[in-house]
Amino acid sequence: MAKKIKKTETVAGECPIHHIAFIMDGNGRWAKKRAMPREFGHKFGADVYRTVMKRCFELGIRATTFYVFSTENWKRPEKEVSAILTLLDEYLDRCEKELIENDVRFIFIGDKSPFSDSLREKMLRIERNSINNHYICNLALNYGGRSELVYAVNQLLKEGKESVVEEDISARIYTKESPELDLIVRTGGDLRISNFLLWQAAYAEFYFTDKLWPDMSVKDVDEIVENFKQRNRRFGGV
Ligand code: FPP
Repeated sequence: MAKKIKKTETVAGECPIHHIAFIMDGNGRWAKKRAMPREFGHKFGADVYRTVMKRCFELGIRATTFYVFSTENWKRPEKEVSAILTLLDEYLDRCEKELIENDVRFIFIGDKSPFSDSLREKMLRIERNSINNHYICNLALNYGGRSELVYAVNQLLKEGKESVVEEDISARIYTKESPELDLIVRTGGDLRISNFLLWQAAYAEFYFTDKLWPDMSVKDVDEIVENFKQRNRRFGGV
């Protein structure tokens, strides 16, 4: 991402998506097909994440959320967990300045407490330095939808609330800085939500594709947006 993000002229009209989220599934299978270790798939997947994020912003989507590491992913072999966290760490080093200059605001959603001091400090620094930027990239790390709701409820209890309304929860979830979620995309062929953005998904549309995450391209993002434009969202109305 060498230049400032420029809204593309190839897509007509205002983009109806304000917030899009991705479950980036299929890295392991992609690597296996190539007789490579799973970590190779994650490495390629990290590059694809950058391409997809940039395209979303070019299309005028203000907020993106990516499921990088779930609360359940700690169950994976230590070598794989460590490879994903190293990738993230290196990515943050390489991209920090560039992304902040490109008007991207980073928010790390999830429980940061199990990460190393240096990774946590890096995340906090990037969040602070990008706070006034327009585009939002929420990176879900050690994230679980249920634990996010538990976190929000605990905040409310600490504040001494005795009863709450929906807006109270919405104001305390990790993605509170982002617009309402419009669309969740899941690659890799599975048809489930895997504890991702449970509260935010209430009125979101879903897009499932058999494509493996590392095979995703700019063209796929364009197709997803075009597909969304054809949908008739009724939000419970007629
Ligand atoms: C799911 O595929 C993918 C993950 C659990 C990790 C996602 C991480 C990345 C795309 C790297 C992102 C890194 C940065 C720097 C943002 P899987 O391993 O479950 O694939 P499988 O279902 O084929 O086994």
